[in-house]
Amino acid sequence: MRTPRARHYLMCRPTYFDVVYSINPWMDPKKPVDTPLAITQWERLREVYLNLGHTVDTIEPVRGLPDMVFAANGATVVDGRALVARFRDAERIAEGPAYHDWLRDNGFPDLRTASVVNEGEGDYLLVGDLLLAGTGFRSDPRSHDEAQEFFGRPVVGLTLVDPDYYHLDTALTVLDEQTVAYYPGAFSPGSLAVLRRLFPDAVIASVQDAAVFGLNATSDGLNVVLPQNATALADQLRDRGFNPIGVDLSELLKAGGSVKCCTLELRAAG
Ligand code: ARG
Repeated sequence: MRTPRARHYLMCRPTYFDVVYSINPWMDPKKPVDTPLAITQWERLREVYLNLGHTVDTIEPVRGLPDMVFAANGATVVDGRALVARFRDAERIAEGPAYHDWLRDNGFPDLRTASVVNEGEGDYLLVGDLLLAGTGFRSDPRSHDEAQEFFGRPVVGLTLVDPDYYHLDTALTVLDEQTVAYYPGAFSPGSLAVLRRLFPDAVIASVQDAAVFGLNATSDGLNVVLPQNATALADQLRDRGFNPIGVDLSELLKAGGSVKCCTLELRAAG
């Protein structure tokens, strides 16, 4: 029997969403984006969360920051403390202060902006007591030390090697306190060996499911919200006693983001 736990999420409406620059292989500024459709798809994701009993706060979107919808990148929030993002790319730098101020003013005064590149929950995923931390494309490996010092939790660094899976949350998802699903092809040989050692029972995703961003999912311990095209992964999850809920975020995928990218978890002090 799997038991869900209600979550507190922060999301950002894609009011100004667009693809006007390219900072990952998914982004093609020449491809048209349907912003109203992106908003409809995002509203649906928000409704799914509300129907599951989660609390969803929203941050005001800022004109000129088309990627701000990807709230996961804004910070990492654990034990009521927030380590706010420092973005790699100039196009996203201004999102950091926006998330900083929102967190400060909405119950997370114990916060700090990272001193080196750190793209928040894009690269930092909490599993039980451990923080898994990605590097290779975005977050600086030195940010792993900073996060360990700030949170006082063990940080396990993982190196990403495939540019299509440039953030940890595109290649690995946390299903419960001890279970993860991941796509092996995204990791360096050493990091893959670490994952096998830490999570011998992990759900292993196919390249097909990874390529539709199936691993860019959220879980409350029972319900796993994931891109609807990741059908084989959904079957694997069902076999393991989870309840997969597919959603369509095709417009946001044009920027290289999906369910998890749109969702920052706000974890209160334990
Ligand atoms: N276009 C955004 C970027 O490349 C997408 C971010 C996706 N977010 C995530 N948590 N993986 O930065």
